[in-house]
Amino acid sequence: MPRTSSTVSFDRTLGLAVLRTPHSTYAVRVGTDGSPRHLYWGPALDADGLRALPGAASPAASSFEADAAPDELAPQTGARFGPAGLQVRFADGTRGAQWHFTGHHAEGGELRLRLTDRHYPLAAELCYRVRPDSDVIERWTEITHTGTEGSGPISVDRCDSAQWTAPALPEYRLSHLAGGWNSEFQLQRDRLPVAETVLTSRRGLTSHHANPWLALDDGTAGEGDGQVWSTALAWSGSWRVTVHRDPVGRTTWTGGFGHEGVGWTLGPGETLRTPVFAGLYTEGGFGAASRAWHTYLRTHVLPAPDRDRPVLYNSWEATGFGIDHPGQLRLAGLAARLGAELFVVDDGWFGARTSDRAGLGDWTPRPSAFPDGLRPLADEVHRLGMDFGLWVEPEMVNRDSDLYRAHPDWVVHAPTRDATELRNQLMLNFARPEVEAWALRTLDRLVRDHAVDWLKWDANRVVTEAGWPGHPDPDRLWIDHTRAVYRVMDRLRADHPGLRIEACAGGGGRVDLGILARTDQAWTSDNTDPVDRIGIQHGFSQLFPARAMAAWVTDSPNVTTGRTTPLRFRFHVAMAGALGLGGDLTRWSEEELDEAAALVARYKEIRPLVQHGRQYRLSGPGGVTAVHYASGDGADHAVLAWRPTTRFGHPPTALTLPALDPAARYLDLDSGRSLSGAALVRHGIDLALPSGDCASRLIRLRRSA
Ligand code: DGJ
Repeated sequence: MPRTSSTVSFDRTLGLAVLRTPHSTYAVRVGTDGSPRHLYWGPALDADGLRALPGAASPAASSFEADAAPDELAPQTGARFGPAGLQVRFADGTRGAQWHFTGHHAEGGELRLRLTDRHYPLAAELCYRVRPDSDVIERWTEITHTGTEGSGPISVDRCDSAQWTAPALPEYRLSHLAGGWNSEFQLQRDRLPVAETVLTSRRGLTSHHANPWLALDDGTAGEGDGQVWSTALAWSGSWRVTVHRDPVGRTTWTGGFGHEGVGWTLGPGETLRTPVFAGLYTEGGFGAASRAWHTYLRTHVLPAPDRDRPVLYNSWEATGFGIDHPGQLRLAGLAARLGAELFVVDDGWFGARTSDRAGLGDWTPRPSAFPDGLRPLADEVHRLGMDFGLWVEPEMVNRDSDLYRAHPDWVVHAPTRDATELRNQLMLNFARPEVEAWALRTLDRLVRDHAVDWLKWDANRVVTEAGWPGHPDPDRLWIDHTRAVYRVMDRLRADHPGLRIEACAGGGGRVDLGILARTDQAWTSDNTDPVDRIGIQHGFSQLFPARAMAAWVTDSPNVTTGRTTPLRFRFHVAMAGALGLGGDLTRWSEEELDEAAALVARYKEIRPLVQHGRQYRLSGPGGVTAVHYASGDGADHAVLAWRPTTRFGHPPTALTLPALDPAARYLDLDSGRSLSGAALVRHGIDLALPSGDCASRLIRLRRSA
């Protein structure tokens, strides 16, 4: 019987901390050396079971082996040879912390284990939080310089949020997400080597190339069964997670913000708090793990959990930089006809921004494009019944801009090094208080003056030559830039309660639990080709829910891949997320516009399932993949099935729907047929896909008995 609540407790006599979630238990024992050691993470275990677990013991009578019990945060002292999550240097050159356990604090769902160094003025708290309705455990670290002025700074070479440990199983398989621009979130699933495996971004952004999520299983888990340990870091700058599988089978991973070499100087009285590194143990395979993450994100991370994500229209693929008032108005009229609820003016509306060479930083409407400013367009969009959205890229600047000419010192740069330009732009140093204040002022004015309901916050370059001239601790910008971005977003949302923000970084270059705590959805990828999108969305869905996954229907042939696909297929793929429209509607035929309007209307019918329901990833024979969304009460179902390529002209086959109730009957809302749950679960539903490539189908079922 699963628990309905989560608890934290600490037994002083045993030095045992226990976190209980509805379906899992996590336990830590404070070692005799004062260091908190990992004891257990897995299915719910009662007190007797926990008592029976072996404590820290030496694995072999050998002077070459370390203590067997993994740390909760390895402090770089003693016979520890794995990756150290905490790496500090004191003024006399001594490295590492040696702990004295000073106590705990447990309140609500939060537990803190308090440590002080035995010799130096350093205190640490290892922090844990559980939520009543979730198996996710949130962890982070706080370290404080407890000395007085004159005791000298402490250099922090690394301060991870947490180290996680999975039980010693004979094999492990690592799942993670890798990719690049236009190819984000490609799921990788390989045997975990006996080695240190580093997943990282050194770019100052979460990155397109790796995402700070991973999952471990024993190599046999599938979508529907198996134990899975997974973690996700809530951070949107550089990060690093090191997975260590040692030859005796110990499997740990330590992770946090910053990549290797990024340091922090901790002054007397100062505290460094890391972002949350969240962990989840699930049974029921990768599907159950994803659903538990989705629920956690919807309930505890994303803002406005109950609010539907709107069907948006975005002008980027239609107009690029060739943007003006009449052109946008024409698109807005067509978008409204199709049923869009939000019209977003993308790049090119401001300053001298007629190409990507100029204008970034000058956030005022370009008079030649918008002679009376943007307000008349915003008013017209509102009159058409849509919200008004605007693209911004506040962290960036072109050299050819008034902002750069006025404040060349505001950019991230090292004066003795080249200032590498990426997309002809430099990055503003948001860690500088005056830059943060400027950004907040500028965006606040923009939102107010132009009645903006939605900001698409883009970031089209990463950090290079990370200098901060004149600052004694320039590395801070790697952390403080991201924190300032968070603060600006948080302040804007607080001051404009109706405002929504879309995260974007040249597509999906900054999608993580940190940015999603202050944005409503993320632009998944600049690649809008529906065939490529199936794989991108599959990877995205491992951690992130469909409501956070912005997906547009664009023109055919696709602008980046040149592939031609039917409108219906493009829609069916995009309907698996937060549907948007991004094509040049002025070139769509009347028939296409009518078909699109009908599909938008259909999406709105299934939106409660897609955006609030449970998601099941499916695959069938003949190259068919699908996602199934079920309402919380199991009554309503929508299945989107796609077959990008036809194989040998084989007839379409049935797709089994294992999440349905075999004891129930279901009404197919389109054909009116009554179907047996048992047949749908065991034999499947006949997809009746048309012949040819890029065939797709939306199936809607309602429980009838
Ligand atoms: C990158 C984004 O991903 C695109 O959607 C678009 O907004 C461009 N930037 C505009 O420069």
